[in-house]
Amino acid sequence: MPDGVVLIVGGTGGLGRELAARYRERGAEVIITGRDAERAGAVAAEIGEGVTGLGFHLSHPETIAGALADVGPVSRLVLAAISRDNNPIHEYDIAGAIDLVTMKLVGYTETVHTLLDRLSDDSSIVLFGGRAKDRPYPGSTTVTTVNGGISAMIRTLAIQLAPIRINAIHPGIVGDSPFWEGKPLDAVVARTPTGRLASMTQVVDATEFLLENQAMNGEELYVDGGWMLM
Ligand SMILES: NC(=O)c1ccc[n+]([C@@H]2O[C@H](COP(=O)([O-])OP(=O)(O)OC[C@H]3O[C@@H](n4cnc5c(N)ncnc54)[C@H](OP(=O)(O)O)[C@@H]3O)[C@@H](O)[C@H]2O)c1
Repeated sequence: MPDGVVLIVGGTGGLGRELAARYRERGAEVIITGRDAERAGAVAAEIGEGVTGLGFHLSHPETIAGALADVGPVSRLVLAAISRDNNPIHEYDIAGAIDLVTMKLVGYTETVHTLLDRLSDDSSIVLFGGRAKDRPYPGSTTVTTVNGGISAMIRTLAIQLAPIRINAIHPGIVGDSPFWEGKPLDAVVARTPTGRLASMTQVVDATEFLLENQAMNGEELYVDGGWMLM
């Protein structure tokens, strides 16, 4: 890995937090972010020494540059944050939609833009999308749309950022992630050829592969047990 921190935006919970713990185990210096600096600091302390926390709101993209001003060189950048906008088209909530569209499509992009002078040629980036882009569910109007946007974003950024690598990961439903744990998912399992849902560890493995494999660039990796085949 080149010099610099591993910066995980949306690293205070779920998959981002698991990834932070993985890179900490590998000996990297890690920064995690969430909306609230105090909470981010507390979660960072739980993960362990060498992990620090920052707070900023991706839905307020004009604040991102200031929040990241003190960050030094970045070797690995991961954008994993999500706000879950359950927004059926027949009861369309504009505020919820704007919040999620802004955070994923503008906030993710502005974070990359802000850190350009701290990335080196050997740095790499992973953006989190999700299988909802291909397999919508009632209320996934905005989620499906923005995760489709992630596919487009890595194509334009891979060209503009070259030789810096950027890839996307699209998990299916991650059964042991905090958001899904305990919810009824039998119907999803029944449509998954492996007969089990992806786990957080498997998504972290796949993210690490995209971040570290020097030939992976401009790609989308699906981690869903073959869900789209049935
Ligand atoms: N879990 C799954 O099954 C699944 C499936 C497909 C795709 N994904 C994708 O994987 C990624 C991680 O999902 P997850 O389930 O692990 O997420 P999660 O547990 O809900 O965690 C979300 C993270 O985003 C941060 N966050 C939320 N709103 C934010 C905002 N406006 N600005 C900045 N940070 C914000 C949260 O921090 P604070 O709460 O501290 O602010 C937290 O760190 C997401 O992009 C999601 O779309 C997940």
